[in-house]
Amino acid sequence: MMGRGLLGIEDLERADIETILETAERMQEVGRRDVKKVPTLRGRTIVNLFFEPSTRTRTSFEIAGKRLSADVVNFTPASSSLTKAETILDTAKNLDAMAPDAVVVRHAVAGVPKRIADELGAPVINAGDGAHEHPTQALLDLLTVREEKGRIDGLTVTIIGDVAHSRVARSDIYAFRKMGAEVRLAAPPTMLPADVESLGVKGFTSLREAIDGADVVMALRIQFERLAGALFPSVREYSATFGVDRAKLRYAKDDAIVMHPGPVNRGVELSHDLADHRPSVILDQVRNGVAIRMAVLYLLAGRTRVEREEE
Ligand code: CP
Repeated sequence: MMGRGLLGIEDLERADIETILETAERMQEVGRRDVKKVPTLRGRTIVNLFFEPSTRTRTSFEIAGKRLSADVVNFTPASSSLTKAETILDTAKNLDAMAPDAVVVRHAVAGVPKRIADELGAPVINAGDGAHEHPTQALLDLLTVREEKGRIDGLTVTIIGDVAHSRVARSDIYAFRKMGAEVRLAAPPTMLPADVESLGVKGFTSLREAIDGADVVMALRIQFERLAGALFPSVREYSATFGVDRAKLRYAKDDAIVMHPGPVNRGVELSHDLADHRPSVILDQVRNGVAIRMAVLYLLAGRTRVEREEE
């Protein structure tokens, strides 16, 4: 269904997304057991290849693999032969020679997971590449919204912040649109993507207008490590205009939920109160990240190399 890996939501059909969500909904039950382990991927090997820091994505891929009884190897760039000038592609090819059944890749440069996927026998899962895509984040966001609202079709989802440079936003726009939601963006002009129209979404520079009647309010992290300081005059001004707090949330529907992919800059994108309390569902997103990654690993690493090659 996802071909030889999961590189982005843009490549998926709605039916593929439905299959992943339904599989993840079955996986959620494993996470509620006393013994959180099933033998589904016994004998399979998953390699986590993270060239950028991560807490949620890397850990949840590891937990997901272990809950399915796979052997999970966490590759650490700082203690690898990358420090002896071995290239990323040579590194990936050498790891592939050890016959993993899936390779999970995060990199600061857009397109690196695809470049690796083109060379490898194992399916590659994009765990976030530059400002391109973060497909499993969008899938866990869909799962969380479906859990909360019982549907995605017909909902209004407002995404706030540095959309232009956010892989989470790009994947979420594709995901929520494919599943029938209306997507609105709210940001200073410097943070709205140039291709708003072609993405099929509406861009707003007024948070109040963008939030008006929304079912889902999603705040993005300000990426201070990626030139964010050049995109708005001051953190204080950004927070006053685009930071979400209970006063601004009043314009959304009464039962609106608040989401954030993490890590949260408290008091900047979200008030401290909303970072910790409902209607924010941030830790539900994290919990659902394990189920989504179990589903993706099951769907991709469940087949043997021979089965994949015969496709
Ligand atoms: N949401 C997300 O990608 O978080 P991490 O960077 O901690 O993996």
